[in-house]
Amino acid sequence: MKLFDTHTHLNVDQFLEDRDEVFLRAREAGVEKMVVVGFDRETIRSALSFSEMHESVYVAVGWHPVDAIDFVQEDFQWLDTLASHDKVVALGEMGLDYYWDKSPKAIQKEVFARQIQLAKKHKLPIIIHNRDATRDVVDVLKAENAAEVGGIMHCFAGDEDVARECLDMNFYISLGGPVTFKNAKLPKEVAKIVPSDRLLIETDCPFLAPHPYRGKRNEPAYVRLIAEQIAELRNESVEKIAQQTYDNACRLFGISE
Ligand code: NI
Repeated sequence: MKLFDTHTHLNVDQFLEDRDEVFLRAREAGVEKMVVVGFDRETIRSALSFSEMHESVYVAVGWHPVDAIDFVQEDFQWLDTLASHDKVVALGEMGLDYYWDKSPKAIQKEVFARQIQLAKKHKLPIIIHNRDATRDVVDVLKAENAAEVGGIMHCFAGDEDVARECLDMNFYISLGGPVTFKNAKLPKEVAKIVPSDRLLIETDCPFLAPHPYRGKRNEPAYVRLIAEQIAELRNESVEKIAQQTYDNACRLFGISE
């Protein structure tokens, strides 16, 4: 069985000491490919250098909404350059985060919109981060006609209606650790209704570890637990979910299998 973890942060300090061991465990668990997501200057650099060491590691580059206030013109130009890099398969994560208070909403929206415009210029899919901002995220995606490039609703936490709205805009729904939490009603419902050609799986490691590791450091090997939970909810085999989500990720990112 081969798995594709579409959202990892092996580039952050939590993996500083044992990144290679974590990567090996992922390979042993069947994780054939992964995307490492950079979201600021430092994590973009470390994502790129990690991808240069491993053929099966791809990169997404973007600017996180929490730090939108720090985004300057040079960063924009840098993203513009990186969009043509061999290993860069998507722009993001980008989006809106109204949970943290650091960046004003208007600035978040502007930085989000500019990154969507950049993705359209380079014809790259986008990876969307949304925290407590669903309505505004959907509005910006519509206003900027993000459907033209599509992308991923990362660690999707909305309800069925929002999922359908995102599917209509050409987006894939990516489910992570929360779908395995006993009390998580919405992701379990969404897991049942996403068309099989639009479903993705991710860990978002080191965050959001699936059951039974909830609260501990997450790692790509655990993406298998997410595939197993989704298979159970959809009454399908885990092999089928693994293969479908793998094929979907390759198609979306333009990676030859
Ligand atoms: Ni992330």
